[in-house]
Amino acid sequence: MSNNIVLECRQLSKQYQDGKQVIDVFQSIDLALNKGEACAIVGASGSGKTTLLNLLAGLDLATTGDVKLANISWSSMKDSKRAKMRNKEMGFVYQFHHLLAEFSALENVLMPMWIAGLNTKEANQRAKELLGQVGLKDRLHHKPSQLSGGERQRVAIARALANRPACVLMDEPTGNLDETTSMEIQRLINELKASYGMAFLVVTHDEKMLGWMDSAYRLSKGTLQPLK
Ligand SMILES: Nc1ncnc2c1ncn2[C@@H]1O[C@H](COP(=O)(O)OP(=O)(O)OP(=O)(O)O)[C@@H](O)[C@H]1O
Ligand SMILES: [Mg+2]
Repeated sequence: MSNNIVLECRQLSKQYQDGKQVIDVFQSIDLALNKGEACAIVGASGSGKTTLLNLLAGLDLATTGDVKLANISWSSMKDSKRAKMRNKEMGFVYQFHHLLAEFSALENVLMPMWIAGLNTKEANQRAKELLGQVGLKDRLHHKPSQLSGGERQRVAIARALANRPACVLMDEPTGNLDETTSMEIQRLINELKASYGMAFLVVTHDEKMLGWMDSAYRLSKGTLQPLK
């Protein structure tokens, strides 16, 4: 395996057993994400995009196959190591943002850095900088319920980037954003790719976003087909 691979899956398949019904979501998926690569995944609703991201994140178990983060299989890690690796090396932007309701935008972005033990001064500085970069410098102390849908999504993006993870998984990150804001996210992603070699795997329907991604795949009929 090349040293440049940040996240990789081999022969990944997933079935859901729903009572007597078995749903075959996908079979034998191979995918490798390199350092500094931005890769898009497209596919119809129900094709398995979120399922794939959850498996890659080690949040759900595959039926067959293996996922490696930084060349280590999720399945070989103890729970404590898995949680630590996930917090430090991965960032997530979920399809439904999952911000902590009781905490402000700033605190939501600080959370992964607190968990990782980053010193308070640096964490505060980084959280404010990231919220500024996603256009929310005047919303630091708003709770999620006081933010618009697109603003919440941008807090979730800032939070995912906080620990400068090796790889960021994003599920429709620009779904609620207008063109100007999407462009700001594009600029931020490109900057982080260049500065830290961060890799991005992004589920998107946004044609513009597809255009500037390094690679793209379509998930269809249970297989992953390269688009570029
Ligand atoms: N926990 C579950 N139990 C049973 N079936 C499930 C479960 N989660 C998802 N599925 C099914 O697996 C398939 C893939 O779902 P998934 O959420 O991955 O699709 P998706 O590509 O993300 O769709 P969307 O674009 O609508 O978000 C769907 O048919 C869905 O109904
Ligand atoms: Mg989905």
